Amino acid sequence: MSLETEISRRKTFGIVAHPDAGKTTLTEKLLLFGGAIQEAGAVKSNKIKKGATSDFMEIERQRGISVATSVLAFDYKNKKINILDTPGHKDFAEDTFRTLTAVDSVIVVVDVAKGVEEQTEKLVEVCRMRNIPMLVFVNKMDREGKDAFDLMDEIEQKLSLRVTPLSWPIGIGSTFKGIYNIWEKNIGLFSNENKQKISESIAFDNLDDPELDTIIGESFAENLRNEIELVTEVYPKFDNEEYMSGRLQPVFFGSALNNFGVRELLDAFVDIAPHPQSKETTTRIVEPFEHNFSGFVFKIHANMDPKHRDRLAFVKIVSGKFERNKNYLHVRQGKNMKFSSPNAFFADKKEIVDESFAGDIVGLHDTGNFRIGDTLTEGEKMMFKGIPSFSPEHFRYINNADPLKAKQLEKGIDQLMDEGVAQLFTLEMNNRKIIGTVGALQYEVIQYRLEHEYGAKVSYEPISIFKACWVEVEDEKSAEFQEFKRVKQKYLAHDKFGQLVFLADSSFTIQMTQEKYPSVKLHFVSEF
Ligand code: G4P
Repeated sequence: MSLETEISRRKTFGIVAHPDAGKTTLTEKLLLFGGAIQEAGAVKSNKIKKGATSDFMEIERQRGISVATSVLAFDYKNKKINILDTPGHKDFAEDTFRTLTAVDSVIVVVDVAKGVEEQTEKLVEVCRMRNIPMLVFVNKMDREGKDAFDLMDEIEQKLSLRVTPLSWPIGIGSTFKGIYNIWEKNIGLFSNENKQKISESIAFDNLDDPELDTIIGESFAENLRNEIELVTEVYPKFDNEEYMSGRLQPVFFGSALNNFGVRELLDAFVDIAPHPQSKETTTRIVEPFEHNFSGFVFKIHANMDPKHRDRLAFVKIVSGKFERNKNYLHVRQGKNMKFSSPNAFFADKKEIVDESFAGDIVGLHDTGNFRIGDTLTEGEKMMFKGIPSFSPEHFRYINNADPLKAKQLEKGIDQLMDEGVAQLFTLEMNNRKIIGTVGALQYEVIQYRLEHEYGAKVSYEPISIFKACWVEVEDEKSAEFQEFKRVKQKYLAHDKFGQLVFLADSSFTIQMTQEKYPSVKLHFVSEF
């Protein structure tokens, strides 16, 4: 196959959902269709069960499982589909944000009874800002839930999306009969008897066909005709360009657990979802079909075995072809590297491969060279953009509890920060170190890992910070900036890249600071 054929048949996406909406179940059913797994139950859920937040073993288990399900690949209708795992747990939101930099499209799963939930709102917002093409799957139609039109309204309003249904439910919960597939114009009848069975569909070009009354009953048939008429009037017609540019989101209904409506979703997905997309760098935009390889690290996973400190760096290939044992430039370090055992990911295993193509993810063994956001090329000096840090939600001083292990501690912190477990801020005034995290859980993970992997002991101390604001100034010599630095001295720090950060203790402080020093711009994101 030519380079172009290989690349254009790849579709790399992530599933975005609030915990429990059905992401794991849907992933598993998609893999069943791809023939990648033989039975349900093969995909392990990687969510942390409620109440287990302080259980270290649970955290370790979580880390182990998430490497296994970080990337799942399968073939379907001659397309190569890569699913990137996006943890739904809010303490891992930063991980998910970063993974979303490596996907070319997204499927959003919504629970028909619970509707749009908090994590979904946050993650969809990130996708919307980047104009990532999104499909929505309304799950658990076998349960009582919200009316389909109400739910469409809710999705539109809470997620600020412009939606159009490509399938439509017939009944719900105990009266759920099936779905009308608007995309392919057929009806799928629901039966919850055999969850592994792929449901049969009956073609219906014209819903006025009296056969419909025989199949689903007169009142359901009439209702469906009315609703589809309304759907046609109310929602925009599906348009591929609008979907691709993130301006229109098709919606599907089904029940992942019952393997129902999933084939419709997958068939539409392989038809319309984008192949690998172009990506911006510091110097130019890189196109996927370029001959030369380029890619970036979006995730780093520590080895589970404390005796081996090597890690797995996940690289999204943006352009060209990655080859085993070929020399590539690690742009930040300016050094050439080659990889003798790059891993490619499949549904149930990872394997060493000789070549991978744009859209694919390769796992590279790393002894501490990589950090998140690093770029690899065939020699070109450019760095991929769009892998920012977000302001953490929690902040604590980190103290060395064993002075004899200062070196180990420094190395441990350095490597954990490279992995993106948390963010380190060093105060300008006294060099004290502050760790910022998305969730409180990370402090335990850090403490545990520093001790078990690096032999270092730490303690934390509270500090009252509301947000980390990255500082942007046009003129560093201006009197206003000098005054800002003098007055706010106590609250200024550097992130691990040396960027200046203002640690604000309240939203009021941020507001006042902006008013007083209008030329000093404050951002909640490190890239602006
Ligand atoms: P997540 O990865 O998004 O967190 O969700 P997951 O797939 O684990 O699903 C959460 C729960 O919802 C699971 O039940 C799962 O069986 C159920 N579920 C998923 N899809 C459907 C559906 O279409 N209909 C119904 N009725 N339930 C669905 P659980 O009891 O939490 O877990 P389990 O013990 O069944 O695995």
